[in-house]
Amino acid sequence: MALRNIRTEEDSVLRKTSRPVTDFNERLWDLLDDMKETMYKSGGVGLAAPQVGILRRVVVMDVSEDRNEYIELINPEITEVEGSQTGAEGCLSLPGLCGVVTRPNVVKVKAQNREGKWCLYKGEGLKARCFCHEIDHLDGILYKDKLDEGETLFRVDAEE
Ligand code: NI
Repeated sequence: MALRNIRTEEDSVLRKTSRPVTDFNERLWDLLDDMKETMYKSGGVGLAAPQVGILRRVVVMDVSEDRNEYIELINPEITEVEGSQTGAEGCLSLPGLCGVVTRPNVVKVKAQNREGKWCLYKGEGLKARCFCHEIDHLDGILYKDKLDEGETLFRVDAEE
């Protein structure tokens, strides 16, 4: 495994649409392993492949406090949404910034795993928010595009 460089806002790769994964091979598994390591190392709750410069529909996530609920989403699609939540959101590609975004409160997702098998996921609260945020990355969308009306990005202390 190796750490990959996280692209930041000025990198146009973040604005492109990612292509579906068709080959579930070692190259994909290397990417997933590297993304996992990069996400944990940087303390993020999710990471999408375009954030490491790869335009493929691949996401890794772990929204748990104990960092033990790791999931991999390949070719993810939102199948159902319910309710709404309003809260602050950040992104590893916009370091030190935060903004208020309204998202669905419950989100169901179908996605393939690293072997290509389709699986179903359900997230509520932060997990639902993260599903939406990461899947947006695959279509070149950043959370700052979706700020609530009247909201602007604000600075947060990077070191907690
Ligand atoms: Ni992000």
